[in-house]
Amino acid sequence: MKIAVLSGSPKGKYSITLQSALYLQHHNPGDEFEIFHVGQKIRKYEDSAVMGEIIDALAAADVILFAYPVYTFLATYQMARFIELMKLHPKSKSLSGKFATQITTSKHFYDYTAHRYVQDNCADMGLKYITGLPADMDDLLLDSGIKQINDFYKRLRFCVENDMYEKRTTPKVKPVSFDYNSAIPATDKSADFRAVIVSDCEDNNSMLRSMIDAFVAAFPYNVDEFNLAEFKFSGGCLGCFKCAADGTCVYKDNFENVLRERILTGDAIIYATTIRDHSLGTKTKNFHDRQFCNGHRVMTHGKVVGYILDGEISKEHNLYDVIDSRSDVSNMFLGGVATNESRERSLTDASIATLAKTTAFALRGSITKPQSFFGVGGTKVFRDLIYLMQGIMKADHKYYKKHGVYDFPHKRYGFILKMKILGVLMRNKVISKKIGNRVNVEMMKPYTKAILRSPKG
Ligand SMILES: Cc1cc2nc3c(=O)[nH]c(=O)nc-3n(C[C@H](O)[C@H](O)[C@H](O)COP(=O)(O)O)c2cc1C
Repeated sequence: MKIAVLSGSPKGKYSITLQSALYLQHHNPGDEFEIFHVGQKIRKYEDSAVMGEIIDALAAADVILFAYPVYTFLATYQMARFIELMKLHPKSKSLSGKFATQITTSKHFYDYTAHRYVQDNCADMGLKYITGLPADMDDLLLDSGIKQINDFYKRLRFCVENDMYEKRTTPKVKPVSFDYNSAIPATDKSADFRAVIVSDCEDNNSMLRSMIDAFVAAFPYNVDEFNLAEFKFSGGCLGCFKCAADGTCVYKDNFENVLRERILTGDAIIYATTIRDHSLGTKTKNFHDRQFCNGHRVMTHGKVVGYILDGEISKEHNLYDVIDSRSDVSNMFLGGVATNESRERSLTDASIATLAKTTAFALRGSITKPQSFFGVGGTKVFRDLIYLMQGIMKADHKYYKKHGVYDFPHKRYGFILKMKILGVLMRNKVISKKIGNRVNVEMMKPYTKAILRSPKG
């Protein structure tokens, strides 16, 4: 087989993910591997001629292998930008019918959403997608990981030989286009709260601009907009970890100060964007990746988040999962997702007005909700990671200690002992019979008391 590897890590030859591709190359001398450092050299591919050349090389391969680290629920900004440029290029049509697969390394925090994102984009390009390898960053060092990567490659070969591939997971989506002029009247503004809209609105995006204006009109509190289209990022996150000790980024574009002083100070954060490539677009992706300067510290606890989306979000199941889980992990109340997908003015107005109303309601009432599996599971992955990496992730470690994120169950000696005693008693048939329904009755006691508790606050 001829494999074209699109290496999406900004770290180039120092990419951990790349080592998996190099492993496959080393152990399959009969196959031909060509490696493209698209993550490290992303600026080069902004040139259409250079992009045309790489597409020609991909067209000559049997399999396109996306090899990238998971960055904030999806691929790196650099990989995402490459995919965007690739899809926009007229030559991308020549790739239709080619096989594609992916290898990621990560700590498994939302690697499945990253995989679905790449899978959906492969489907858009008519590529025959074969299930990828979501590896842990240390898997290549383990016997189990070596078996898994070999199994992955065997399966890849088997699928190619038998022309077998996955069906697309997201239905085809179409851009939303209609004449939208909101009829929402402007409400008076109170300074009690402040929402920050993080948009990526280009001058020619009149649809998104009208949607943002409609939200501003409907929202009863102050609103600031931070337009990513106007901010000059020096580049995407480099994954250099230089920020791990004290949160200072190597770039001198002032992003971390803008983030901390202008955006994270808002009571609500509202993203406004056009859905592109099954994501919030590459500008918002860069915005999210660059927040790595705050490490794994949740800076938004108790705030409200909302989305103004130009596009068919109800078809974008994976993107919706990312939205939902991001708010859950960051302990934010999801005020809603407003959309124009109805392609009707009145329904779009209603959707935006609902977002504005719910956001205002949540702010006034300091509304909270428990984390679901998304947030609880994600936080545990981070908890274990930061504990192990405390030596370099000093700022995260300090924060986790202070905020009680280190909630390891193995220190709850009293509870563990209680359960051990109960276990011994329940395993004894005579005692168990005697206990009868007592366990249920005892368990209910604190809950019965809780029903009568008066609410605090
Ligand atoms: C900006 C940034 C975001 C990251 N986001 C995630 C994530 O969402 N989930 C995860 O499991 N790991 C995440 N990681 C960890 C990387 O995926 C992991 O270290 C990977 O193995 C690095 O691969 P590379 O050396 O090929 O770049 C992130 C790392 C960085 C720098």
